[in-house]
Amino acid sequence: MINIAIDGPSGAGKSTISRRLASEFGYVYIDTGALYRAVGLYAFRNGIDSKNAEAVAGTLDKIEISFTHDENGVQRVYLNGEDVSADIRQHEISMYASNVSAIPSVRAFLLELQRSIAEKQNVVMDGRDIGTVILPNAQVKLFLTATCEDRARRRYEELVSRGQEVDYEKVLADMRERDENDSKRAAAPLKQADDAVLVDTTGCTLEEGYLCVKAAVEQRMKEKAL
Ligand code: DC
Repeated sequence: MINIAIDGPSGAGKSTISRRLASEFGYVYIDTGALYRAVGLYAFRNGIDSKNAEAVAGTLDKIEISFTHDENGVQRVYLNGEDVSADIRQHEISMYASNVSAIPSVRAFLLELQRSIAEKQNVVMDGRDIGTVILPNAQVKLFLTATCEDRARRRYEELVSRGQEVDYEKVLADMRERDENDSKRAAAPLKQADDAVLVDTTGCTLEEGYLCVKAAVEQRMKEKAL
């Protein structure tokens, strides 16, 4: 199976670019952030402090997460059988997801789910630790990034386009806090794998970012004769 791992901070364009890449290559796109968001959503709905490792760990045996893909390759995520694909995208769930993702038992809980999918099919999987922890043998690894301001601007525009009322300064502050959380945590922090290609999309449109990523992936595949 061919595994393409795309890691990087929030708002770097990973999901849009990965989804398009998967569709063009005929691979399955896996958005692993959605899994952490589903665990975060469970904590949010049940009034559990998402920073309390013990309390969150105690919920894991009550949580069943699964996902499907529709005919357009769009991933839907289910929490105990309920389709939560829209709910997990609420802005306030982002911080819950970031908090629970720092808890080692949560990461262990989601690890097999991610690996088992990549064993069975060709995937483009995006996340934070795909190239370093989940799929260390992925044939192609990319680390996609951009400045914090650029990523906050994109996230702000995305939220506004979905009709959510948000303030840019707040989105930027949240982005900084999440960057800090995701890269400083002890368990599988966000970091570029040694064998990952770095793609910086600062100042790029999504189209330009996509073309850069695609070129980097094709180059890597050629080098590896895939
Ligand atoms: O990509 P996203 O914003 O939907 O991810 C939500 C949170 O989940 C993010 O703050 C970091 C975490 N995450 C992670 O720790 N590891 C992954 N592979 C994917 C996401």
